[in-house]
Amino acid sequence: MNHIYAGQSKVLAPLVGGSDLSFRLLSRKYGAQVTFTEMCISEYYLRASDKTVRYKKYTFEFDPTDRPLLLQVAGNRPGPIIEMVNQDMFKGKIDAVDLNCGCPQGFALEKNYGCALLKDPDHLVNLCKEIAQNIPYPLSVKLRLEGNGFSRSTRLIIPDSVEHTIEIMMRLKEVGVRAFTVHGDKRGLADWDAIKKIRETFPDIPIIGNGNVGSHGDFQSMIDHTGVDGVMAGYGALIKPCLFQSEEIDIGQMVRDYLLIAVGHENDWIDIQRHIQWIIKGKSTLIFELSMQKAELFTTKNIPELISFLRGLTPPIHVEWNPEEIPMDRTTYPRQSVSAKDKRKEKKLAEKREKLLQREKFQDKGS
Ligand SMILES: Cc1cc2nc3c(=O)[nH]c(=O)nc-3n(C[C@H](O)[C@H](O)[C@H](O)COP(=O)(O)O)c2cc1C
Repeated sequence: MNHIYAGQSKVLAPLVGGSDLSFRLLSRKYGAQVTFTEMCISEYYLRASDKTVRYKKYTFEFDPTDRPLLLQVAGNRPGPIIEMVNQDMFKGKIDAVDLNCGCPQGFALEKNYGCALLKDPDHLVNLCKEIAQNIPYPLSVKLRLEGNGFSRSTRLIIPDSVEHTIEIMMRLKEVGVRAFTVHGDKRGLADWDAIKKIRETFPDIPIIGNGNVGSHGDFQSMIDHTGVDGVMAGYGALIKPCLFQSEEIDIGQMVRDYLLIAVGHENDWIDIQRHIQWIIKGKSTLIFELSMQKAELFTTKNIPELISFLRGLTPPIHVEWNPEEIPMDRTTYPRQSVSAKDKRKEKKLAEKREKLLQREKFQDKGS
């Protein structure tokens, strides 16, 4: 996989709800060289019917300019992963497949995938061997480190030392894993020394370092510190997509660049709102989190409403918008399908908004 990570690449992380095609293209516009799809749970994908078409549309949209692209898969049985990856829809669209061995979320642990796979190295080795032998793409693995053998978020025992992680990686390499991304997570902070040690142990295959990249300078700092072949940015890229380039970009310009791509791809409005929320967070994390502005954002229904919402923020975010660039009749989008989760989220936001309004009224009366 050396060709994918030629020349110390800047890599956009796999991000559920984040690394959709529009955001991948935005990241590339600013300098990302390698991108990942979000984690695709193979068994869910294979069961997905037309009703859950949103899952397929959102996750599996491709563009010839978005290469090299890695399809990230999650699962713990080789059969469904192999069946999914061999679907015609991926032919000529992806450059490699990455197995998620890092997800710490409860839903992944329940089903024994994500970082739960690290609990049982024998099973993981067999899984990777089967996958590597039965797919027409190179296989890589993204895994996480944990400092003391205990993940707070997962309440799970996973490799308790870099040495243990390295042992597992050696076995995975033997059965055909061609590259690794190491999320150097150690109690919330990334352990770049551990990533360096891993880099030194595996000089002949690409090692991508991940964790705590929050500015453009961090890409070079991680390379200088660890010698990795590529540096991956996740949350930092969501809240500041222009971090892939050295030149700073005004937040209004980033919003505009994103909207032009997302509207062009007819993204669901809820996905557009979520990305805008992340980009705004980059400017005013605390204020935005605490305020009712977040709820306001999620009540916008189209571009003009969104633009006036952004202009009304303190401080205002000015987005240049020429209605002729995107005809007005293309400013609202029907959902492909609204998942139960999205509905619950909307309901929660509406309730929160109502509460905040009540509180404000109460405070007004008191003052
Ligand atoms: C919103 C969000 C979604 C994520 N989704 C995935 C995913 O689908 N697959 C994965 O391997 N990691 C996922 N991660 C973890 C990131 O890829 C990355 O490893 C982690 O955020 C650490 O990098 P950072 O410090 O640059 O954020 C996600 C992280 C965030 C914040």
